[in-house]
Amino acid sequence: MYVCVCNAVTERDIAEAVRGGATTLRHLRRDLGVTAECGRCARCAHDCLRTAKVECARPAMAPARASVAPSLSLALEAS
Ligand code: FES
Repeated sequence: MYVCVCNAVTERDIAEAVRGGATTLRHLRRDLGVTAECGRCARCAHDCLRTAKVECARPAMAPARASVAPSLSLALEAS
């Protein structure tokens, strides 16, 4: 979704900027031009910034590990 129509900035652009270190609306303005023209995107950009910061702060999920029950493992080895 476009957040800033004037500068064609999307939610994805904002999330990427946050991963790159942006933490404030001022950073988004500097890096992406958000709010630099008409300013109507300020509230939505702020909401996207907050969401992206939360997403960025979450620890990465560990990859799922397949586990085989010991008895099944022994049965597979015996066959
Ligand atoms: S919509 Fe972002 S500056 Fe106009």
